[in-house]
Amino acid sequence: MLKKYFKKLIPKQSDQRERLARRYVKGCGLEIGALHCPLILPAGVSVKYVDWVSREESIKKFPELDTSEIVTVDYLDDGFLLFEIPQASQDFLIANHVLEHTPNPIQVLKNWTRVLKPGGILFISVPIAEECFDKGRSQTTIEHLIDDFELYNKSVLPQAQTRIEQKNKEHLREWINISERNIFSDRYADYKHPSFEEIEKRIEAADMKNIEIHFHTFSLLSYKSLLSFFTASIDKTVQKEKVIQNGGEIISVMRKFSKN
Ligand SMILES: C[S@@+](CC[C@H](N)C(=O)[O-])C[C@H]1O[C@@H](n2cnc3c(N)ncnc32)[C@H](O)[C@@H]1O
Repeated sequence: MLKKYFKKLIPKQSDQRERLARRYVKGCGLEIGALHCPLILPAGVSVKYVDWVSREESIKKFPELDTSEIVTVDYLDDGFLLFEIPQASQDFLIANHVLEHTPNPIQVLKNWTRVLKPGGILFISVPIAEECFDKGRSQTTIEHLIDDFELYNKSVLPQAQTRIEQKNKEHLREWINISERNIFSDRYADYKHPSFEEIEKRIEAADMKNIEIHFHTFSLLSYKSLLSFFTASIDKTVQKEKVIQNGGEIISVMRKFSKN
């Protein structure tokens, strides 16, 4: 994670994030992957932080971040699954710059809306690929995301499993060749990009269940397509309230209206 990119990406606790939080976020809920940048919430709102790594691990992982800003994690859990969180238990769920880290965003949106009470708010932001270190990557289409969702739903079948592995390897290859090159060449003046053979060896050795990369890329248009598909075809109890561009990111607010 880079200061140069992140300064551009997130106008440090941006006014827009805070403004939308004041308008929509109430009651008790969760923030996934808050890391060093928890959403500033209105008085009286109570939040628990979810991350799959502890504060101590994040401090080691991101030495460039100011330690004092990194939140203490309340639930050490996979925030894409939320197994420990009961259905319809939360007034809100916040996930800023997290959705791009999953290989199956449609399923994750489903898992997130599962834990919302009727009236609950899903507050998400994602980086715009062309505005961050993903610049130059191909744009993920809605068809690609639907295909991911369907493949994971039949992942017990060997053909589906093989296709998932292929797709994830393609994402990792693109991440190494474009995103990581942008990150490391910015960080180290003497950065030397790995050879084709080195990259392929690394991809073969990677533990795909635990890699932390941006699997997918978003633009304002493609992210809106994802939300439209989700609300029309996957969870009709959820509706879009607001989708705006905020510098190098897109912020969306959705509301759950009733129980599934
Ligand atoms: C790019 S940081 C986002 C930081 C901050 N929310 C922001 O707006 O910049 C991604 C965070 O999500 C967490 N994360 C990624 N995948 C996760 C998962 N499956 N479950 C829980 N946390 C996850 C990471 O550990 C990290 O803290």
